[in-house]
Amino acid sequence: GCQLAAKIAWKLLEGGARALHVVETAVRILEDDPTFDSGYGSVLNAQGEVEMDAIIMDGAALDLGAVIAVQGIANPITLARLVMTDTPHKILAGNGARDFAAHKGIPLLSQAELTAPKARERYEKHKADAALNSSSKGTCGAVALDSYGGIAAATSTGGTPFKMAGRVGDTPLIGSGAYADNQTGGASATGDGEQIMRVVLSKTATDAIGHGMDAQAAADYAIRVMVERVNGIGGIIVVDHNGNIGFAHSSQNIAVAWSSDGTIHGAMQRSS
Ligand code: GLY
Repeated sequence: GCQLAAKIAWKLLEGGARALHVVETAVRILEDDPTFDSGYGSVLNAQGEVEMDAIIMDGAALDLGAVIAVQGIANPITLARLVMTDTPHKILAGNGARDFAAHKGIPLLSQAELTAPKARERYEKHKADAALNSSSKGTCGAVALDSYGGIAAATSTGGTPFKMAGRVGDTPLIGSGAYADNQTGGASATGDGEQIMRVVLSKTATDAIGHGMDAQAAADYAIRVMVERVNGIGGIIVVDHNGNIGFAHSSQNIAVAWSSDGTIHGAMQRSS
């Protein structure tokens, strides 16, 4: 799934697309893939419902759009972008976000239509065994640098399995789930939202670039801060303003794909 998204993202960049469009497109592909915990693959909350968060940020203008606890749409990342471009606000939540989606002509889906069979299966297992600790935290994200020097980042999630209704993780919080600044870089985070937000993980990484680190050093640094300060489990992808790419994780795995010359690379772990 990541490699497919990276392949299409690269084609767009090669054709001169802007980073903002590229990260939205990449995340839409991941949202439609039930492998990932976002869009159609979203895990279910304690009430058995899909409730999603997403954020998109444009590093040229330091502008952003986010949606929180939104239900009944296939692609929250597109709604987040519309919040940024078509409202005077930066974040919309819950029913207000859903009403805005309807107003923009986005099809509204029932819970059944948005629930992947695997997500329902996992929910039933959770219900049967409340102590079960699912390891699935496959929030998805993308970061891109375009040929004009524009950097954008996007992140989308269904949150954590069996979360309380109304729970909000790191994803839609600016600087935690994503950050982008053309002067430094872009970052997108995945993992344990309750810990990621405590160290504002994505902004920690882009600030590190501002202090002279490249993308990989900044990713390593941000994850080290999260582990040392709050014992957090998660991962981050980073692109710096020079086009360097980095990723790091304290989780066992992180599915990533990237390209800087048209060749698509993929990995499940960072080998040091
Ligand atoms: N990182 C996604 C979440 O905790 O909701």
